Amino acid sequence: MSRMRIQAIEIPDADVFKILLDNFPDMIHSIDDNGDIVYTNRRAETLLGYTREELLSMNIKQVYAEEVQEALARGFSDLKEKGDKMVESLLKAKDGTKIPVEIRSFSIYDDEGRFIRTFSILRDMRKIKDLQASLVHAGRLAAIGELASGVAHDINNPLTVILLSNEMLLNELKRTNITPSDSFQKLETMAKDIQKASRSIQKLADHLRNFSRGMAEKQELIDLYNSISDALFITKNKTMSAGVEIINNIKKGTHFVTGCSNHIEQVFVNLIGNACDAMIERQNRQLTLSIEPAKFDNVDCWKCNIMDTGTGIPKEIIDEIFQSFFTTKPKGKGTGLGLSISRGIVRDHKGDIIVSSKHGEGTTFSVLLPVVVV
Ligand SMILES: Nc1ncnc2c1ncn2[C@@H]1O[C@H](COP(=O)(O)OP(=O)(O)OP(=O)(O)O)[C@@H](O)[C@H]1O
Ligand SMILES: [Mg+2]
Repeated sequence: MSRMRIQAIEIPDADVFKILLDNFPDMIHSIDDNGDIVYTNRRAETLLGYTREELLSMNIKQVYAEEVQEALARGFSDLKEKGDKMVESLLKAKDGTKIPVEIRSFSIYDDEGRFIRTFSILRDMRKIKDLQASLVHAGRLAAIGELASGVAHDINNPLTVILLSNEMLLNELKRTNITPSDSFQKLETMAKDIQKASRSIQKLADHLRNFSRGMAEKQELIDLYNSISDALFITKNKTMSAGVEIINNIKKGTHFVTGCSNHIEQVFVNLIGNACDAMIERQNRQLTLSIEPAKFDNVDCWKCNIMDTGTGIPKEIIDEIFQSFFTTKPKGKGTGLGLSISRGIVRDHKGDIIVSSKHGEGTTFSVLLPVVVV
């Protein structure tokens, strides 16, 4: 912004008000009895895209969206009568952009009580509306977590009955068929299939329950291989439906850290989920997982790399991706909380998440966590 210069030490009141109004962060306009605009400040120009001269030759109807015209006419006569008003409405900028605004208006009258003009202060509500929508979405996700843990709990009892009955069925089959026949084998295969399917439901229910548990978890020794495998299990549906090829170079029993395994798992679930989203429209969809030693703050760490062949992240936004509620996904698809929560978790574990990305080629997120020697 260019520096403002004034000639005299004493600033006349009129100039003070002009300076204030022109630097006011909200749009201000004043309209006469016919609805013609007779004053606007600089913010009105940047918000609506018209020059001040253009605005001063327009009627107020021209800067509001079609769908609010009726309410505008009603509101204007109400305002003239009552003297002040606060409403929400929708502006229409020169390029057609619709801007939700909160408006505080008041009228001024002459000595005989005749209406002269209205003054209105209009606040751009786009950011606040987006934030509200994200909070609602985040709240809904939290509620789904609760529901999932409840469902997982309720699944367990009937599942235990199925598994036990199936066990008894298998034993009974073995007992009654001393010389296995074709039909015995068919029955045994079916019973074993039921057992396998039930165990995988049980595992899924366990995951759901653990995953949606609260904070303040106990510290434990974590094999990063297990965290990654569990995260891949949870995201199996997503990676499979996106047609992602997974190359997992991580070995079991080799890379240990300490902390809360559910939370670390949640970090990998978020990163794998993001990678899938970034690859969904790409031809080559590969997710490569690897671990290497590294130093972070002079401490020996495991650097766990999640590398995708997705869209990559444009330079202009890469510094913003860890901010809460920053998302490039359509409404209802992303809350913009995944990375900020994940980084918070990893930092609580005395590590960090770093990112390197080439727009158009892919992205690698690296989770750094202090090494534990076992
Ligand atoms: N692997 C990736 N490749 C490309 N862009 C990514 C990747 N991971 C994250 N991003 C970018 O960072 C943004 C923020 O990610 P973050 O996980 O915090 O939120 P989100 O995925 O949009 O929503 P959610 O809260 O559902 O996770 C994404 O919207 C996307 O633009
Ligand atoms: Mg995400």
